[in-house]
Amino acid sequence: MKKLFVKTYGCQMNVYDSARMVDLLAPLGYRPVETADGADMVILNTCDIREKAAEKIYSELGRLKKLKEARAKSGGAMTIAVAGCVAQAEGAEMLARQSAVDLVVGPQSYHRLPEMIAKLAREGGHALETDFPAESKFDALPEQESGAGPAAFLTVQEGCDKFCTFCVVPYTRGSEYSRPVDSVIAEAATLAAKGAREITLLGQNVNAYRGAGPDGEPWTLARLIEALAHVKGLRRLRYMTSHPRDMSDDLIAAHRDIEALMPYLHLPIQSGSDRVLQAMNRQHSVDDYLRTIERVRTARPDIALSSDFIVGFPGETDADFEATLSVVRKVGYAQSYSFKYSARPGTPAAAAPKQIPDDVKDARLQALQSLLVAQQGTFNATCAGRVLSVLFEKPGRKAGQALGRTPYLQPVHVDGAAQLIGQIADVRIEEIQPNSLKGVLLREKALVH
Ligand code: SAH
Ligand code: SF4
Ligand code: F3S
Repeated sequence: MKKLFVKTYGCQMNVYDSARMVDLLAPLGYRPVETADGADMVILNTCDIREKAAEKIYSELGRLKKLKEARAKSGGAMTIAVAGCVAQAEGAEMLARQSAVDLVVGPQSYHRLPEMIAKLAREGGHALETDFPAESKFDALPEQESGAGPAAFLTVQEGCDKFCTFCVVPYTRGSEYSRPVDSVIAEAATLAAKGAREITLLGQNVNAYRGAGPDGEPWTLARLIEALAHVKGLRRLRYMTSHPRDMSDDLIAAHRDIEALMPYLHLPIQSGSDRVLQAMNRQHSVDDYLRTIERVRTARPDIALSSDFIVGFPGETDADFEATLSVVRKVGYAQSYSFKYSARPGTPAAAAPKQIPDDVKDARLQALQSLLVAQQGTFNATCAGRVLSVLFEKPGRKAGQALGRTPYLQPVHVDGAAQLIGQIADVRIEEIQPNSLKGVLLREKALVH
């Protein structure tokens, strides 16, 4: 048995990809381990979205280099591979900048890892694969094994054609691609048979999904969700991330009509100023966004809303930032992510005039985050005393405790629920903590569904 250590950075699509790499290397004798120390192969599955994320990789590689040298001294060997979006963005430069790296593979070509490893073993030197291959990796991957828990991820769409001016994703993941419906349904059925009760459909622009259906027509995400709701064993469906432009009528209706579709929507607006949205090339106005939110809330009044925000985009004035706060106040988010703008090499905004000083970005981020944290608290407080269905995913901190999630994606700790992992049960929410909830099981046996 060979030891494989995979470390994952970035978004859930990377989490999915990491699990698939583990599956792909299993037939070669690699088994996942919890630490790089003593590993035969280390894969860093990287994220390039902000400068900090990318720089982290080089400091991690510096540490790995020492482990690799120590292992070589004791007569062993460690192969260091870099996968993901930094690998795609930097390619051969990574090999030049850090000599300990043996292999660089982009997010669309990791299905070629076995060949690349064989080539390294045969010829030594380095292996590099960052072209966007003509074939889809999904056709070459083995059945999903390692990512299959009670709540699983399933990538259905990848890449992006939207080219927001701040974002590297169109360059690192390539153009939009949707997996065919049949292959998604087959993977979902496999996951369900292995115990998945919930699946989150992933895509950089998941609501732009247009996969080829069995009828030869392109299917929308709503149609795909409707079909997946019939997969035996699946009880809950989610999707992320969505673009406001692609929030179609049928998807909004799905939130009203499909019981398995959970009442949670991550719909990033980024900024509350039309001027900034235009400079970002987001292709929608604040008003368009608010109207979409209103339609979604009409379809599903209790829906929990979530968003991403960027503060300090080049040229953002105090008034623009105030407009963002005002949109946040109007919408009322249950959850959110906010970031300081980070200039990414090669993106149009990186070359824009009027970059914002870091102290201004810091102050804006702090103001925005305190508002968002307060809103999250308000949303959570509305759940106190309510009975919510919880899917238990894993053991909690204390013995006998289990950690699960509500339909609104809030984490809940429940004592005495350890035997319910993998199941859905009704829980009365009794305590609201800053980042999670605490609840009690309702007459367990009778109410486990
Ligand atoms: N496809 C998704 C987002 C993918 S990236 C969408 O369109 O919403 C996830 C989040 O990272 C983005 O929503 C954005 O808020 C943030 N982000 C992307 N590029 C960034 C940058 N250069 N600086 C700071 N945050 C950034
Ligand atoms: Fe990036 Fe914009 Fe595409 Fe989202 S829609 S991945 S933010 S370019
Ligand atoms: Fe990061 Fe790539 Fe995901 S840049 S956020 S890992 S698509």
